[in-house]
Amino acid sequence: MLIQRALSRARVLSTSRYFSSLSSIQMQTINLPKSPPFSFSSNNHGCNFLKSKPSSVSSPYSTAAFSLGKSSRKGVVPLAALLQIGGVQIAKDDVVKENDPTNNVPDSIFAKLGMQLHRRENHPLGILKKTIYDYFDVNFPGKFEKFDDLCPIVTVKQNFDDVLVPPDHVSRSYNDTYYVNSDTVLRCHTSAHQAELFRNGHTHFLVTGDVYRRDSIDGTHYPVFHQMEGVRVFSPEDWSGSDMDGTEYAAADLKRSLEGLAKHLFGAVEMRWVDTYFPFTNPSYELEIFFQGKWLEVLGCGVTEQAILHASGRTDIVAWAFGLGLERLAMVLFDIPDIRLFWSSDERFTSQFSEGKLGVKFKPFSKFPPCYKDMSFWINDGFTENNLCEIVRGIAGDLVEEVTLIDNFTNKKGMTSHCYRITYRSMERSLTDDEINELQEQVREAVQNKLNVVLR
Ligand code: PHE
Repeated sequence: MLIQRALSRARVLSTSRYFSSLSSIQMQTINLPKSPPFSFSSNNHGCNFLKSKPSSVSSPYSTAAFSLGKSSRKGVVPLAALLQIGGVQIAKDDVVKENDPTNNVPDSIFAKLGMQLHRRENHPLGILKKTIYDYFDVNFPGKFEKFDDLCPIVTVKQNFDDVLVPPDHVSRSYNDTYYVNSDTVLRCHTSAHQAELFRNGHTHFLVTGDVYRRDSIDGTHYPVFHQMEGVRVFSPEDWSGSDMDGTEYAAADLKRSLEGLAKHLFGAVEMRWVDTYFPFTNPSYELEIFFQGKWLEVLGCGVTEQAILHASGRTDIVAWAFGLGLERLAMVLFDIPDIRLFWSSDERFTSQFSEGKLGVKFKPFSKFPPCYKDMSFWINDGFTENNLCEIVRGIAGDLVEEVTLIDNFTNKKGMTSHCYRITYRSMERSLTDDEINELQEQVREAVQNKLNVVLR
């Protein structure tokens, strides 16, 4: 379990571990209360998802699953339950379906859709996005198109199939990904938009967006975070004058471009390239920098698999692609100690950052005492830590700082007991005993009812 946990931590701490894993779904116990069979036989683009007329559609991209707003079907929808993303209207009950076994999106996640922290100019994520834009604008003037408003609700085909994620890859499981229904997910990476953009002829682009992954809880993990994807396409005339083939040429350009980006963000740091695996690139690499005394993974990247480009109708091109996690980099650049802070609307946080000022160090305004609550239960075969964390977050929201397995044993009858320590702490105020006791009571009840475990 410890090893499992360590692996799961490593996976999300770094943007790319999620996909660099070769492990298949079968290796993991997935038995959610809401776990449908994995059937992706229908490869429609989610257009059957809602059958009514489009309400307002302006973005040409990634709205397939949501090109049809439900508001018109149902009449009046409460304002708070209706979002507008990239020109598409999204109603809460299009995304959260309590009694649908093919849906595992909780209210707490719906609440994050449409927040688009990366589009706020004075937010650390917006500042970082802009700094990366600047690098590409200066070094490749007029070349890179920017997309930061593509709908995060995409088809399974866009998120996985189009970028060659194998049918049995662990990232497709209901334990790791938020499914709206069996054909539609909340994108778990910005690579979900690659194929569509290639198909539409784009050759140099940056895609920034919120991405969603079910996960455990601690200071560096949050089920919603932000990524930026970069892609550049080359034609035969680009590499014909060199002594390299297309792949070598793209790989060399990729490394040169990203080393420049790392220098732009972190200054003159030591860097190294590590070979890795992604389903969508070959060769694949991670770029690491030596920063504040340790090696830090900055991004995952590689030369795009030819099959992805062929599907877009062009057989003579090559491309490179990279993906980076904005929180991960912003936490080091701005000294932000807890990932929940990115979501804070407390002025003591928000007022510390302003456009164009990368790397201003965050001054913690308080450190309120934590409150620990332990709970033990007999697990069943379908139990997963991600499911537990989802319930805790659903009840305690951002008041929960960490959920840690502190004891794990199996008795003579073969029953396994887990004891979890939940750390409650607000970043903004002191919590009262009564408040925490009440939350913990609700957590206990929900864990028992929804996960079918037996409390001890
Ligand atoms: N999509 C990958 C991830 O989220 C990152 C990546 C993008 C890697 C593009 C290679 C190329 O982990």
